[in-house]
Amino acid sequence: MKPSADHCEALWLNVNLATLSAQSGYGEILDGALAITDGKISWLGPRVDLPKNLNAKITHDGQGHWLTPGLIDCHTHIVYAGNRSNEFEARLGGASYEDIAHAGGGIAATVAATRACSEDELFEQSTIRVKRLLSEGVTTLEIKSGYGLDIESEAKILRVARRIGVQFPLDIQTTFLGAHAVPTEYRGRADDYIAMVCDQMLPALHAQGLIDAVDAFCENIGFTLTQTERVFSATKALGLPVKLHAEQLSDSSGAALVARYNGLSADHLEYLSPAGIAAMAKHGTAAVLLPGAFYFLRETKVPPVEALRAAKIPMAVATDCNPGTSPMTSILLAMNMACTLFRLTPCEALQGTTIHAARALGIADTHGSLTPGKSADLALWAIDRPSDLSYAIGANPCMAVVKAGEISNPYFDRKFAG
Ligand code: NIG
Ligand code: FE
Repeated sequence: MKPSADHCEALWLNVNLATLSAQSGYGEILDGALAITDGKISWLGPRVDLPKNLNAKITHDGQGHWLTPGLIDCHTHIVYAGNRSNEFEARLGGASYEDIAHAGGGIAATVAATRACSEDELFEQSTIRVKRLLSEGVTTLEIKSGYGLDIESEAKILRVARRIGVQFPLDIQTTFLGAHAVPTEYRGRADDYIAMVCDQMLPALHAQGLIDAVDAFCENIGFTLTQTERVFSATKALGLPVKLHAEQLSDSSGAALVARYNGLSADHLEYLSPAGIAAMAKHGTAAVLLPGAFYFLRETKVPPVEALRAAKIPMAVATDCNPGTSPMTSILLAMNMACTLFRLTPCEALQGTTIHAARALGIADTHGSLTPGKSADLALWAIDRPSDLSYAIGANPCMAVVKAGEISNPYFDRKFAG
């Protein structure tokens, strides 16, 4: 797409670009320029190569800062009610995550709070967290259901997720996670619950346009491989993509299963086996690494990053924002932890929240890098070099966020004046 003299909405000048568009590296262009037409990137490159006839309606002075793709948080459970700091305290006193789940706490506690919450109240509670991600340059957000576990409550969560995409400058990808836990009314009848998920919830929520993808929690304290496969085959029948919480607390061979269903991603992966890696590589399934959950559960087994790298599997990085295992609303902290805890390079961490996160959501053709034709989703950072984004702990150097070409900064306490 070429910007024409009479049709270029905005031009960014006096910026360094990290395009993330190459196979490796940041794709740095020092003293670059980027043009936007119809909400999409229409030209980018070194400023000296800028087409001479370009006559933009608005020119933004990037003040020498760095422009990256808008960040993508590709794995969150951000729509929920209440919190579980009581369980945090209990775990620090010696109880395990599994102990708490078996005692009726854990996911079940958040399900009770979320069911009891009105849709408006759920929206209010959730958007406090969403705004924190927005202020850190996030322009695309995946939101899972899974704290409702009955049709109406799951629909409520997914409607709130869609509404977040309407009321905030964010692309929202919704994921139906009905197979997150067995609700109390189905206790001891997991197969019956899975049948209800497959035969009733999934088709009903899909018919309401609420589902972009389907996930499940395949684990000792979640669902078996057979139950997970039932969900996947019902999902495939509707033509929707799958992904999976796999190998988080044990090796349940979930990664190989989701790969066999050409899944978008296998997520967590601390206990991922060589067979799982081979299957993911074969089927193009991305890895989503969630260092916040690893940290918060004080896990010690790290995902096999070196083997994933060797197999050239795209590694995304996400917050896993949820009240039980990762009450985290900082994508930058997730990037830092991916480096310090999992030994990703800062460049891999940024790829993990841009181009590889887009891959994990199946939207890499339109999002995730600074590439002509892709959505003009950008973040502007007051940093010296791209590795600063993974380096600092608790800093937020984001100066501006651009969504589909428009600057959208009401969530900042500082104003960008460029
Ligand atoms: O991604 N593993 C399952 N789901 C969440 C935890 C949910 C919870 O404890 O509330 C996770 O870690
Ligand atoms: Fe999760």
